Amino acid sequence: MKQNKVNVTRQYAKEKLGDDRSGHDFYHVDRVAKIAKKLAEQEGLKDTVIIEAASYLHDVIDDKVVENVAVEKENLQKFLKEQNFSVEEICEIFEIIENISFSKELEEGKADLTLSGKIVQDADRIDALGAIGILRTAYYGGHTQSPLYDPNIAPQTFKTKQAYREKSTVINHFYEKLFKLPATMNTQAGEKEAQERLIFMKEFLKKFYDEWNLS
Ligand code: ADP
Ligand code: NI
Repeated sequence: MKQNKVNVTRQYAKEKLGDDRSGHDFYHVDRVAKIAKKLAEQEGLKDTVIIEAASYLHDVIDDKVVENVAVEKENLQKFLKEQNFSVEEICEIFEIIENISFSKELEEGKADLTLSGKIVQDADRIDALGAIGILRTAYYGGHTQSPLYDPNIAPQTFKTKQAYREKSTVINHFYEKLFKLPATMNTQAGEKEAQERLIFMKEFLKKFYDEWNLS
């Protein structure tokens, strides 16, 4: 029964995100769900239904991914009710998926999340880092027609979601967001994984600059 609830949200995410070409496709949320489940186990949590469901659903109401956020919120409410999620469970899922994003944190500061929310947030941020994170960032940059790198454009510090969403370069995004993520992790296991992925990204950048500068 519990596993069935996870499976139906997984299927829902597959239908909604399958065609995404911005780096937020079904396999992104599938990885987030797996990372989150692992973190939950490390935190000693036994019941991971809400964590897994919220992981699968966290991008299906995101304005980067869907055209009409209000409609998609309604669709999701209706779907969860039909699948016999309780009112409390639906509230918790929405509470998580509406509050975990980095762009929201830029404007409003760190969100006050439940442990389940903290775990999903960590998992989403871990998937923005490492080898996968590097590729997703380059892929997103192509999607938004951003330059790969321009030595004349310095990285910026953004304070609003709108400014953050303006085009930057792929390499600048490492400094503008990705390298800041490890310090925002909520769980110890999440922070450890994020730090390891950060080391790899810094090595990658070093090689990138060596090749760029022919040194
Ligand atoms: P959130 O949904 O937490 O606000 P974002 O939408 O900023 O997160 O980012 C999701 C992923 O999309 C990032 O980890 C990154 O890979 C990619 N991305 C977002 N903005 C940019 C950008 N300006 N340049 C390159 N990649 C980006
Ligand atoms: Ni995500």
